Amino acid sequence: MLTDVHQRPLRNLRLSVTDRCNLRCSYCMPEEEYIWLQREDLLSFEELGTLVDVFMGLGVEKLRLTGGEPLLRRDLPDLVAALAAREGLREIALTTNGLRLAEAGPALLAAGLGRLTVSLDTLRPERFKVLTRRDDLQSVLAGLRAVAHSPRLKLNAVALRGVNEDELGDLVRFGREIGAEVRFIEYMDVGGANRWTPDSVVCRDRILELVGAQLGPIEALEADDPAPAGRYRLADGTVFGIVASVSAPFCSSCDRSRLTADGQWFRCLYALEGTDLRGPLRGGASRAELEALVTAGWTARADRGAEERKALARRDGSLTAEAGRDDPHLQMHTRGG
Ligand code: GTP
Ligand code: 5AD
Ligand code: SF4
Repeated sequence: MLTDVHQRPLRNLRLSVTDRCNLRCSYCMPEEEYIWLQREDLLSFEELGTLVDVFMGLGVEKLRLTGGEPLLRRDLPDLVAALAAREGLREIALTTNGLRLAEAGPALLAAGLGRLTVSLDTLRPERFKVLTRRDDLQSVLAGLRAVAHSPRLKLNAVALRGVNEDELGDLVRFGREIGAEVRFIEYMDVGGANRWTPDSVVCRDRILELVGAQLGPIEALEADDPAPAGRYRLADGTVFGIVASVSAPFCSSCDRSRLTADGQWFRCLYALEGTDLRGPLRGGASRAELEALVTAGWTARADRGAEERKALARRDGSLTAEAGRDDPHLQMHTRGG
C-alpha cells in the first residue's frame, strides 16, 4: 500500500467538479468578485475517469464529489454512474449546498451515489440570507425533503460564534426528523475564510455544551474509522458528529487528497502547491507515467496543515484576500474542502 512520510495511506480522493457556486457563504466566499477557472481547463468526465483509475490503482477506494457546488456541473448523474460502475470502489459520496437537490437528488441516488452530505448551517430564512447572501433556504429544505431518509444522509453545519450557536440543538432535531446525521464543523482558517479570527470559532467542547443544554446528556462514541468527525449520542439514541479540525486536528490519520476541476492535485487542505495532472494527461502521458507522478507526490507528502496552524502563536485567516485573487486554486471553493 502506498503511504506517505507519516505512514498515511492514500485512500480518499475528493473530486471538485466545478469551482462555481450559487451561494456566497461568509466563511467560504466572502468577496464580491472571484477569478474562475478557465472553461477549457476543466476536466471532461472521461479525463476525470482516467485519473480516478490511476488513483484507484494506487489505493483510493473512496471518492467524494465536491465543488464549489457540484450540482452546477451539467449531467453529474452520468459521472456518478460511470464511477459507480468501477470495481474496487467502496463508495461514492457527494457534498452539496442542496439548492438544486430537489431536481438532482433522486437521479444521483439512482445513479449509484452511496452517501450524500448537505451543508445546512441554519434553519432560519433570515439568517440563511445573511450567511449565504442568497434568500433561498426554501430550496435547500425542498431538496432535503426529496432525499429525506436516504441511506447515510448527513448534514454539515459550520458552527459560527454569534451566528448560529443558538440553534445547534434545533439542527440536531431537524436531522432526526429527516433521517440525517448532523455534523458540526469548527470554523477553519482555510482558503476563502480570510476574515477568520480565533474568536469566531465555536470549538468542540462549546458545541457539546450548547447541544447538551438544549437536548440533555451526551455520550461519546468509539471511533470506528479515520473519519474526521467524532461521534456522540443523545439519550434518545440520536447520533451527531463534530469535526474538530481547529481544536483537535486529525492530520495524523488523514488519508485524503483533492483534485480541482482543472486537474491540479492537492494533498493537504492548507497546501499552497499542488501537482498539475491535467498537463501530463492532455500531453499524452501513459497510465504508468501518471501513476509515477501520484506515487512521487504521495510518498513525499509530509504536510500536517491543521496541526501546524494550531501550533502558531498568532493566527488569522491562512490566506489574504489578495493571494486568493491571484491564485484561485488556493480557495476552499476551488479545492472543495
Ligand atoms: P467523510 O469523512 O467521508 O464523512 O467526509 P468529510 O467529512 O471529509 O466530507 P465533508 O465534505 O462533509 O467535509 C466536512 C468537513 O471536513 C469540511 O468542513 C471540511 O473542511 C473538513 N475537511 C475535509 N477534508 C479535510 C482535510 O483534509 N483536513 C481537514 N483538516 N479538514 C478537512
Ligand atoms: N471552515 C469549516 N468548514 C467550511 N466549509 C467551507 N468553508 C469552511 C470553513 N472555513 C464547509 C462547508 C461544507 C464543507 C465541504 O466545508 O460548509 O459543508
Ligand atoms: Fe457555501 Fe459551499 Fe458555496 Fe463555499 S462552496 S460558498 S461553503 S455552498
